Amino acid sequence: MHWSKTQSRARFNLATSGVAPFPLRELPVNLKGLEINGDNSYGYPPLQQAIAAHHGVDPECVVESAGTSMANHLAMAAIIEPGDEVVIEHPAYGPILDVAEYLQANVKRFRRAEEDDWAIDPVEVRRCITPKTRLVVMANLHNPTSVLTPGSVLREVGDIARSVGALVLVDEVYLDAVYEGTPRTSFHLGPEFVVTSSLTKVYGVSGLRCGWILAQPDLAWKMRRLNDLYSATPVYPGEVLSVASFKHLNLLRERTRHIVEADRKLLRGFLKQESAVSAVETQWGTTSFVRLSRDCGRNADAFLERLLLEFETSAVPGRFFEMPDHFRIGMGIDTEMFAEGLNQISRALG
Ligand SMILES: Cc1ncc(COP(=O)(O)O)c(C=O)c1O
Repeated sequence: MHWSKTQSRARFNLATSGVAPFPLRELPVNLKGLEINGDNSYGYPPLQQAIAAHHGVDPECVVESAGTSMANHLAMAAIIEPGDEVVIEHPAYGPILDVAEYLQANVKRFRRAEEDDWAIDPVEVRRCITPKTRLVVMANLHNPTSVLTPGSVLREVGDIARSVGALVLVDEVYLDAVYEGTPRTSFHLGPEFVVTSSLTKVYGVSGLRCGWILAQPDLAWKMRRLNDLYSATPVYPGEVLSVASFKHLNLLRERTRHIVEADRKLLRGFLKQESAVSAVETQWGTTSFVRLSRDCGRNADAFLERLLLEFETSAVPGRFFEMPDHFRIGMGIDTEMFAEGLNQISRALG
């Protein structure tokens, strides 16, 4: 997170994870009556209802949070006690691991194998589970690879977790980047599922910090009470704008869809033509996890340093996903910039 806030910028910035910002002027909303303060002690009811309606769940199951970041933190803090076993995918989005460690969990990892197209293998999950396991954690779509885990596999993981009384936390912040036939949230798969998400990645309104958790009502209350220690009360004007965003969610999502799709097409061509790199291709998502071939020394850090210094192009080092021979590139900002970024990578690969 610190790297992304301080070192990811470049003329050709492929170190992104979400789509381009949605401008306020394009949001059909009348701001004349906007107030600074409102009735939102444990969340703003119209926003909770909008989130609940979006997912087809009871508003009692919705906990507002400051982005998916706080959603993941709150969810884990409400579920985990120090010493509990938490089983997390590998590779994983770094802050998810960091939160589990911060909460003094005993972290175990299950491997998503590149040779298996980064799929979740329930046998691997079962191997890590013990009676002390309290939580299994994954992202769907997966960050960094954008691989989608089908409902049947999620259900199997849910069964494995339930057999030892554990819960499954699914971070779905990228799920709506499946533009056609968007899967339903895994929250519907059973009471062992807890889901986190936000409007930050696929809708271009990251600044609203509109995030949420879906959990069974008792657990949801525990999270709201725990949040009394963190952000206490949400930002009211942000909630009002979030409700307006939910009213026009399709407009927000469609605005950048063509950019994501055009970028993905370019990426396919690039991967076909560049033998020094490879990646598991997906039909959706805003990121791709690229592997450097052995000929390039398999050291993405050195390559990315040179890429930035000599070619003004940035991408996210794989070391942040515990895979230092990879790097992550992001789609959905600006196709001209993306094309030039890929060009610069080709030049750097020589
Ligand atoms: C898997 C995953 N979860 C959560 C986040 C944080 O999202 P937010 O901006 O909603 O806090 C990110 C951001 O990159 C992410 O990749």
